Amino acid sequence: MSMKIPDIKTELPGPKTREIVATDKKYLITSTKVVEIVGKIGRGCTIEDVDGNIFLDFAAGVSVMNLGYSHPRIIKTIQEQAEKLIHFAGHDWYNEAQVEYAQLLCELAPGRNCEKKMFFSNSGTESVEAAAKIARWNRKALTIISFIGAFHGRTMGSLALTASKPVHQKRFLPNIGGVHVPYAYCYRCKLEYPSCGVWCADYIKEVCFETFLPPEEVAAIILEPIQGEGGYIVPPPEFLPKIRKICDDFGILLIADEVQSGFGRTGKLWGVDHYGIEPEITCCAKSIAAGVPMGATVAREELDFPEKGHHSNTYGGNLLACAAAIESLKIIQEENLVENAARQGDHILKRLREMQEKYEIIGDVRGQGLMIGIELVKDPETKKPAKEETAKFVYECYKRGLIILSCGKSVIRLIPPLIIDEKTSDIGLDIIEDSMKSISNK
Ligand SMILES: Cc1ncc(COP(=O)(O)O)c(C=O)c1O
Repeated sequence: MSMKIPDIKTELPGPKTREIVATDKKYLITSTKVVEIVGKIGRGCTIEDVDGNIFLDFAAGVSVMNLGYSHPRIIKTIQEQAEKLIHFAGHDWYNEAQVEYAQLLCELAPGRNCEKKMFFSNSGTESVEAAAKIARWNRKALTIISFIGAFHGRTMGSLALTASKPVHQKRFLPNIGGVHVPYAYCYRCKLEYPSCGVWCADYIKEVCFETFLPPEEVAAIILEPIQGEGGYIVPPPEFLPKIRKICDDFGILLIADEVQSGFGRTGKLWGVDHYGIEPEITCCAKSIAAGVPMGATVAREELDFPEKGHHSNTYGGNLLACAAAIESLKIIQEENLVENAARQGDHILKRLREMQEKYEIIGDVRGQGLMIGIELVKDPETKKPAKEETAKFVYECYKRGLIILSCGKSVIRLIPPLIIDEKTSDIGLDIIEDSMKSISNK
């Protein structure tokens, strides 16, 4: 019998959910929770909550569950590995799974014609911390340039590179420092593309290097190929190549943070593949091990530390994570998930652009593959961010059984699992349209 998707059977939140949420609020430190859903069982693109309600999930555990929930091959792999060995301190001793995965990832990661090495960690922020240390060590320089709107994590090093919301920094400043420069956010820029000549990229050279920042003090520039938390911002084609050229001209390392955009999410294996450039260092996490925590930093071989002890951790190279990551790569390839992300993304973007014609509140629709943003504005002329309407929209979707997240000031982000088909995409899009209607004046 096929499952009804979504299937909301109780009032929301349901009774068991309310109980668990109350206990959560009592014992868990306040973080970033959105709506009240207590997940119990995941299947494909759906989450069943503790009250038996079935939600369609267009957030995929924040772009982690790219293979969908409960992929049978991932379950089997994890079970088989758990019976053999779960942990054997991968940075202190050796294991086969981490060697196998390291070889696979080094071969696949950007920088295809050069030898690379990688470092295992447990999260996105740690993958960025490792990249920053590798860059500082090699360049004998401390400053890392990142972009306004960037999100690279919340530990103290990555937090210094993050610049998307003041709340992330509040009472944590000063941090290790860094310089933030404009990202190519064309929709909100005062200049006009393409006549601007992508001046935001020139800013680094023309303003920073000419006035306060000697380029030899810069270890690296870090960028998200498509900015995530900052608002799902897709830069124009020239932006990344121009940043690459600045790095080349001054011997600065380029770090691509592919934590969210990697592994097929954007309809190509890596976000940078849309721009024809390659970084020296790539940060990976989120979907890398199909839901088992893992981070990875891949760097050109010559950037390796010359002696032991500069960087390490306890859990990196965990066998469950490595086994899941190996299987995940095979599934991405065998199920053609990168191609599916591109195809479904085109379909979703087309329908959203049709909605944009109908609803004035939709200021911009943008995306690559299944990394799609809908920017909501109070007025298409002033482009004033529709913040309250965005929060309401997330809630309206929830009431109708669709899990969705926002980002930036007033952007709805769509990041369904890469296994999604057109029929399921349309179910979500119908809910999106219905919810859009309910928050629109028109
Ligand atoms: C681009 C990017 N980098 C780094 C991070 C941090 O990852 P984590 O939350 O696993 O530390 C995130 C998380 O959203 C991200 O989107």
